[in-house]
Amino acid sequence: MCSIIGYRGDVSASKILVSGLRRMEYRGYDSVGVATFSDSQIRVKKGVGRVDQVNNRSNLQTLPGNIGIGHTRWATHGRVNETNAHPHMSSSGEIAIVHNGIIDNYKELKEILQGRKYFFKSETDSEIIANLLQYHYDITKDIKRSMIKTVRELKGDYSFVAIFADGTLAAARFHEPLIIGVGKKGFFISSDVLGFIEHTDEAIYPDNGEVVIINFGGIELFDFAGNPVMHHLTKISKEFADVYKGEYAHFTLKEIFEQPNSILRAGDNSRTEIEAFVSAIRDSRQIYITGSGTSYNAALVAKHLFLKYGKKKIDAIISSEVRFYPDYFDNQSTLIALSQSGESADVMEAVKIAKDSGAQILSIINTMTSSLAQISSISVGLNCGPEIGVAATKSFTSQLSIIYKIADMVCDKSIEFDLKKISTAMSKVLESSSRIQKTARVLKHASDIYIIGRGIHYPIALEAALKLKELTYIHAEGLPGGELKHGPLALMDSNSFVIVINPNDSTFNDTLTSAREIKARGAKIIGISDIESDVYDHWIEIPSINESAYPFLEIVPIQLLAYYAALENETDPDYPRNLAKSVTVK
Ligand code: AGP
Repeated sequence: MCSIIGYRGDVSASKILVSGLRRMEYRGYDSVGVATFSDSQIRVKKGVGRVDQVNNRSNLQTLPGNIGIGHTRWATHGRVNETNAHPHMSSSGEIAIVHNGIIDNYKELKEILQGRKYFFKSETDSEIIANLLQYHYDITKDIKRSMIKTVRELKGDYSFVAIFADGTLAAARFHEPLIIGVGKKGFFISSDVLGFIEHTDEAIYPDNGEVVIINFGGIELFDFAGNPVMHHLTKISKEFADVYKGEYAHFTLKEIFEQPNSILRAGDNSRTEIEAFVSAIRDSRQIYITGSGTSYNAALVAKHLFLKYGKKKIDAIISSEVRFYPDYFDNQSTLIALSQSGESADVMEAVKIAKDSGAQILSIINTMTSSLAQISSISVGLNCGPEIGVAATKSFTSQLSIIYKIADMVCDKSIEFDLKKISTAMSKVLESSSRIQKTARVLKHASDIYIIGRGIHYPIALEAALKLKELTYIHAEGLPGGELKHGPLALMDSNSFVIVINPNDSTFNDTLTSAREIKARGAKIIGISDIESDVYDHWIEIPSINESAYPFLEIVPIQLLAYYAALENETDPDYPRNLAKSVTVK
C-alpha cells in the first residue's frame, strides 16, 4: 500500500507534502517523490529510501509552487528504484500522477498507448494513468472529460491524484481510500487523514467511483458518469492529532505501552453497535470469522471463546483463502470480519464474496471511515487511536477486548474476565520491560524461534511468531504444544530457541511436559508463566489471573521481546522491510 497526497493553496506545497508523507510513511516506504507546479511547469524530485533520507539527499522541500502531489511507495509492479518511484509524468511532461492500488489492465493499455506514440520509462502499472490522462486530454482539451474517460478504462482498485499543465489537481478513487482536507490554507487530497491533520480537522469523504477537481475556482466532485455529487464536511476526531512518539523511541514501543489504557477504551464509541452485533450473532445459524495476519489470530481466539464458553461453533477462515471457495457462504451465513485498517484487500475480497452470497457482514475495525465499515451492516470500533507501527500491538489486544465482550454477552456472561483487573496486570508486566529487554539479547543470534501454546494459547503462539518474524526478521513458528511429538521435535537441538506460553491454567502440566521434551534435546527455553520452573532457561513472569484472561497478559512480553530483539538486530521496528501497515493490494 502506498501514500498519496495532493495540496493546492496559499503556501509552499513541498513543505506540506513532505511533512504529510512523513506522517503517512507507515503505509509504505520503499521510495518517495514530490511534484510541484509553478511558472507553468511541473517539477519532479524522487528517490529510493525513507522520506527524510530522500528529502535530505534531494531537497524535496525546495521545489517551488503552491500546488503539488507526493507519494511514498510500497512496490507491487517494478523494482524499488528511482525510475519506478512516483510521481510519474506523461510522455509530454504536461501531467504528473501519484497512485495507490493496482491497475489490473495496465499491460493492454500500455500497448495501446505505445501504439499511439506515448512512451514509458518505468516498469510500473501506475505510469499508464499519466499517459492515458494525457491521451484523453490531447483530444478533449477538457480535464473533467479526460478524467471520466480515463477512469472508465481503468480496471482494478486504485486511487490517484494528478496535476495538469494548468495547475489543476484532479483525483479519483475506486476501492482505495481518498480523503479531502478542507483547510484555511487550501485543499488537501490524501490516502489518510494523517496526511493533513496538522493543518485541518475538516474533511470530505468521496465515495467509491467519484472524481475530485480542485482548481482556481475551488473544488468540484462528480461521479464516474459525470454527475455532480455533494458531500457534507466531516469533523475528524482529535485522536488523530496525537500521532507523535512522545518520549518513546518508536511508535511500536509507545503503542505496546498504551495497551493497559486502550483495552479499557475498546468499543466505547460503539455500545449500540455491540448490542446489535450480539443479537445478530444470537440469531445466526452459521457464523464465520475472517481476517489477515494478526486479525486472523484474533479471529482464532474468538473461535476458541465461543466454543469453550458458549458451545457455539464458529468457522475461522483466512481472508486470502476465501477466493478459492466461492460457495463457502450462503444467505444463512453471518461473517465477522476483523481488520484494524478496514482496507486490507484480502479481507475486502472475502467480505465481497460473502456479501454476494447473501451473507450478513459484521465487522470489528479501528478506522471507522474505512471501506470495510462502508460495506458492513454492523461495525464495532476498536477505539484504540491510530496505530502507526506496522506490527499490530494495541489493535490486537483491543480486538481481544471487543471479542471477549461480545462472546461474554452471547455466552450469557459465562466468561470470567474483568478488563480493569487485566489492565492492572498488564501494567505490571510492562514494569518488567527492562528484564525482558535483557532476555531479548539471547535471541540476537537465533536462526529459528519456536513458540508453543495449547488451547487458547495456540493463537497467541501464532501471533507471537508473527511479531517476531515481522520485527526481527528471524524465522519464527507458532506450534500447538501437543504437536511437537508428531514431527517438529525433529527440529529441536542446541541451536533452537523455544518460547513456551505456559500460564498456570488447565494447559499448564501438558505444556510443561512438552517443555521438558524440548529441553531434553538441548533447546533453550524461555518460559512465559506465573509459575517459575527449572526447565526454563529464562523465565518471564506474568501475574496470576483467571484462566480466560491470560491471552491479554502473555502477548505483551512477547511484543516487547520482539521489539527489543529488533533493536538488537538493528532492524526498524516501526517500518519493517517489505511490509506496509495495511496491505490494500492482493
Ligand atoms: C500484523 O502485525 C501485521 N501488520 C499484519 O499481519 C496485519 O495484521 C494484517 O495485514 C491485517 O491488517 P488489518 O488488520 O488492517 O486488516
